[in-house]
Amino acid sequence: MPLRAVVYASQVAADLSAEGLESLVADAARFNRMAGVTGVLLHDGDRFVQYFEGPDDGVARVYERVMQSTSHTDIVELARGRVSSRQFPYWAMHRLPADQLLVGKLARADWSRFKKSGPDDIVGSMWGIDVLAVAVAPYVEAA
Ligand SMILES: Cc1cc2nc3c(=O)[nH]c(=O)nc-3n(C[C@H](O)[C@H](O)[C@H](O)COP(=O)(O)O)c2cc1C
Repeated sequence: MPLRAVVYASQVAADLSAEGLESLVADAARFNRMAGVTGVLLHDGDRFVQYFEGPDDGVARVYERVMQSTSHTDIVELARGRVSSRQFPYWAMHRLPADQLLVGKLARADWSRFKKSGPDDIVGSMWGIDVLAVAVAPYVEAA
């Protein structure tokens, strides 16, 4: 089955409370589970970076909900495209704390490929997907 992935950055809406964010993520995870979508949401208090992946129709429906949400503004798509296998299969949606440095790095990274580098790949400039994988890894082990 062909899979698609989307990654974007956005600005947290000024009136979004901590409780509002919690219920938003719970609602997102519920919807994603039905849509067969998995991913992660990084949040530094000021900005979001979200990655999600799944079947074409599921990703399209989730993206629509994301675009409609008034809980963030200034949505900038960093990349969208095909992915050969799930890169982040761990959660339907899960919020991870991030610092501004990490969110900035993700927002500026090269997202022109979605496949994580393997141990045999040449280490040079890190792709966005690799920066995200390194940031997520400690939470995967703890889950
Ligand atoms: C940063 C962010 C990420 C979201 N991620 C998802 C998601 O992965 N799946 C989903 O179905 N909805 C997602 N949503 C939508 C919310 O779950 C929720 O339906 C929406 O925020 C409610 O509308 P409101 O923000 O205008 O109150 C997201 C919204 C925001 C702001």
